[in-house]
Amino acid sequence: MDRSNLDHWEQLATVHGTGADRYYHLDSLVAGGTLMGAEEIDALRIATDEKGVAGLDVLHLQCHIGCDSITMAREGARVTGVDFSAAALSRLSSLAQLCDVEVRTVEADSRDLPHELDGAFDLVYASIGVLCWIDDLSGWMDGVQRALRSGGRLVLVELHPLLTMIDSVEPLVVDFPYNFDGGHVFSGVGSYANRDADVAWTTTQFTHGLAEILMASQRAGLRTSYLEEHTSMSFDPRGMDGGIESDGRFRLRLGTGAHDGSVTVDACPMPVLLTLIAQKP
Ligand SMILES: C[S@@+](CC[C@H](N)C(=O)[O-])C[C@H]1O[C@@H](n2cnc3c(N)ncnc32)[C@H](O)[C@@H]1O
Repeated sequence: MDRSNLDHWEQLATVHGTGADRYYHLDSLVAGGTLMGAEEIDALRIATDEKGVAGLDVLHLQCHIGCDSITMAREGARVTGVDFSAAALSRLSSLAQLCDVEVRTVEADSRDLPHELDGAFDLVYASIGVLCWIDDLSGWMDGVQRALRSGGRLVLVELHPLLTMIDSVEPLVVDFPYNFDGGHVFSGVGSYANRDADVAWTTTQFTHGLAEILMASQRAGLRTSYLEEHTSMSFDPRGMDGGIESDGRFRLRLGTGAHDGSVTVDACPMPVLLTLIAQKP
């Protein structure tokens, strides 16, 4: 495996939730709050037929430092967090202890999940910022399918591939394709959660269009039971300053909505997030 992505995440796992951070408000989590967005909460509600996760075996795939793992454990789920970053899993375990919940951790590559996880889960949950690290989407979906029990569901809440095409709105920079075409190398400093974080990185990222995601899940043997393309979401996922509107929701609008240019009308919002729920027969 190319180590640059792993090195990047090992670094971010030590930085996130420390100091100034726009997403990982760990004090609030430890105090009993949740860092899940409204769309993730909705997705879990829909995937559990309104029953909630209590009593379910949940695999949290690419769990990072485990903020959502802890929320689901607090709600009564038996949660296993999987990530390839040992540093992330170590942060998760410390946080879980602080929050007085149990979360099992498994260090593994999500493109090739260990067979010990096969058939053990009612839900596989993966959210926001997971698929762009995955070249082998079929391997990822196959692992999800194997991990689920019959009747179990994948709950995927992910950035919409149209959003990930856009690097910046002013000026409009479109630097990532819609459909998979191999790896794209990016370099930078800081983190999406803290631009001033003292990290420098080079990563390889991959895009997957909506049809590719759906077809991969179908080929793995999962049946789509719910699909939503959201044109707004509860937070700005990539720090694209200016996207939060007066109702507190993040939207991506390109250009203007006026046809003749004589009046300024807001452009219609683009899809920014998707929810896919797919069931193992
Ligand atoms: C953006 S984070 C997930 C974010 C999560 N929604 C959150 O905010 O906590 C992406 C995670 O994917 C993990 N990851 C990336 N590639 C992976 C792979 N091939 N196998 C397992 N984990 C991977 C990283 O270590 C990181 O923790």
